[in-house]
Amino acid sequence: MHRSLLTFALALAPLACGDPEPEPFLGDDEFVRDPALDVELVSARGDDISHAVGDNCMRCHQENGPGPGRFTVAGTLHDADGAPAPDGLVELRTAPDGAGDLVLAIEVDARGNFYSTEPLAFPDTALFPTVYSGDGARKNHMPFPTSSGACNVCHAGGFGVRLPEA
Ligand code: HEC
Ligand code: HEC
Repeated sequence: MHRSLLTFALALAPLACGDPEPEPFLGDDEFVRDPALDVELVSARGDDISHAVGDNCMRCHQENGPGPGRFTVAGTLHDADGAPAPDGLVELRTAPDGAGDLVLAIEVDARGNFYSTEPLAFPDTALFPTVYSGDGARKNHMPFPTSSGACNVCHAGGFGVRLPEA
């Protein structure tokens, strides 16, 4: 099921080339999404229902995709050694490094993934991500704000969202 959807998405990708400013994580407008997929879905510590660690979740969990829930923010937290880091926390704030107002806190699940369908003002508003380990002892932050919640679009390969060394 997954593989065939993936193949479908890849086959449609060239059609997007005429778009003046193609957004890499948007699906094709022609994709017919089942309205029953528009559920609220928020990750929680200990949950293990997610999948696709490291992948761009919004490729599918979006208005023109097949994934349940339209994610406003989603990605994967990694440890310093690159392995997925379970049960941490991701904060979106109005200032860097845990400062400013907290706009949304998202618990990281048991697979290292985090996701939420909570409304966020992306891309009109940009927010500063700060991430914490499961025990809260380690944190890392993005020094400038992001106007996209699709963290894994930029944080791919060896550049995953990650915690510092213990
Ligand atoms: C290639 C498309 C695709 C990508 C990429 C993808 N998903 Fe999914 N996801 C799906 C589909 C389709 C389902 C429902 C069927 C299934 O579970 O396989 C699903 C199911 C889920 C579920 C379970 C929902 C439920 O109610 O049981 C969660 C949670 C989830 N995805 C999170 C994520 C996260 C987090 C990412 C990124 C790290 C991600 N997905 C990437 C397509 C995708
Ligand atoms: C548009 C691309 C982009 C998006 C989207 C993005 N980031 Fe970043 N992020 C970067 C870049 C580039 C850096 C490196 C900044 C530097 O090192 O000066 C970075 C740095 C970070 C760091 C610090 C990394 C380190 O090793 O020091 C964290 C943590 C982080 N981002 C988390 C997130 C989270 C969480 C999200 C999603 C809410 C996100 N980022 C979305 C581009 C992005």
